Amino acid sequence: MKILLLGSGGREHALAWKMAQSNKCKALYIAPGNGGTRNAGTNVNLDTTDFNAIKAFVLDKDINLVVVGPEGPLVAGIANFFSVDKELKHITVIGPVKEGAELEGSKSFAKAFMVRYGIPTAAYLEVNETSLEQGKAFIDEQKLPIVLKADGLAAGKGVLIINDKEEAKKSLAEMLEGMFGEASKKVVIEQFLQGIEFSVFVLTDGKSYQLLPVAKDYKRIGEGDTGLNTGGMGAVSPLPFVSKDLMKKVKKEIIAPTLEGLQKEGIDYKGFIYFGLMKVGDEPFVIEYNCRMGDPETQAVIPRIKSDLVELFKAVGKGELDKAELKIKKKACAAVVLASGGYPGEYEKGLLIQGADDIDGSLVFHSGTHIKHGELYTAGGRVITVSTLGENLQDAIKNSLETASRIDFEGKYFRKDIGQDVSTKKTLKHLQDKESVKVD
Ligand code: AMP
Ligand code: GLY
Repeated sequence: MKILLLGSGGREHALAWKMAQSNKCKALYIAPGNGGTRNAGTNVNLDTTDFNAIKAFVLDKDINLVVVGPEGPLVAGIANFFSVDKELKHITVIGPVKEGAELEGSKSFAKAFMVRYGIPTAAYLEVNETSLEQGKAFIDEQKLPIVLKADGLAAGKGVLIINDKEEAKKSLAEMLEGMFGEASKKVVIEQFLQGIEFSVFVLTDGKSYQLLPVAKDYKRIGEGDTGLNTGGMGAVSPLPFVSKDLMKKVKKEIIAPTLEGLQKEGIDYKGFIYFGLMKVGDEPFVIEYNCRMGDPETQAVIPRIKSDLVELFKAVGKGELDKAELKIKKKACAAVVLASGGYPGEYEKGLLIQGADDIDGSLVFHSGTHIKHGELYTAGGRVITVSTLGENLQDAIKNSLETASRIDFEGKYFRKDIGQDVSTKKTLKHLQDKESVKVD
């Protein structure tokens, strides 16, 4: 296969690293890629939403598999663009058509979809500028805190959790007036769910699916889950608290009805579905859907996959995913993100990174890096993810932290408590017994 991977983050470096190991991978291009993806393939300077430029490149290089990392091109309709173009429609695109990407692109679409198919999620009300008063009345009926979500994509910033009803009403009005631009012209007000979050990922060809390892992401900048929200400061997999019973419920109450719903609505969904879930007591609820893999969860999930990812993508293209097998390594993985000082606020770019090559035992996935005159420099808020496989989570975490401390750039910051809340000293055998990785 000749492959084009779209995106430039740690998720894409992990996907590129994995695909490059396949003997089915004859060429791999990453657009635009980063300082690390160039070790797995060839970086190409293409805008991921310039579909005509992508088409020209795909035809020129005879690409037959396009893997879409981020949500932007999916919500903008890249899979639709390929499916209606006679020169492109034979090419497999890993990523749903825009109608499917709406699961992520519109919170109100996702909530209404879940209600239509009886999928457990928090109670909610959708509000726009003409229904502000109903929104305020709904806030009055809720227990604190109040969750307000911008309907559209807001770069991970569109969710406010507010502990005061009057303040929540004020923020609701401000959101509708454009606090997050067009994305908050509609707002979803949601019941707050108290529990532990975890992420479940599936790869689907629209009919059947394969379950990837579960992971937990650490979104806040500060240790002990404090401070501002970020794109994600680390992730671990597997999760001791996700039992076989819980996974059974996730499959039956969440994954199966989601796929059935997509089919009923005639939505051709080929790609990843990311279920952001909350375990409330022993019951799973959907907090959000994403139409792609998570970042940095991918960096903790992909290293655990034994199977050939390109083979799996090929099976998706043929609609034969039910015949494929997704095998998981009997190891744990911890991914620790190294961020620029000041992130998620203001931070400096262009700082020299040292010690990021050839690290024994750890995988160094780049996020915001670029190469200049053969040297590596910071180019974003999240700079590098260090992922390490271990016999258990404790070992994986310890080794990732050790490697993280050896990589150096001015202002480097990383959380030292990634995975501490969920890891135990129990053996991996025990974790494997608890984690369900096979599709029923
Ligand atoms: P979202 O963009 O929908 O994933 O929301 C961002 C974060 O806000 C989630 O990862 C949760 O930590 C939190 N969150 C969102 N919705 C709820 C809810 N209904 N109850 C509790 N926490 C929530
Ligand atoms: N780690 C959260 C996300 O990818 O949306």
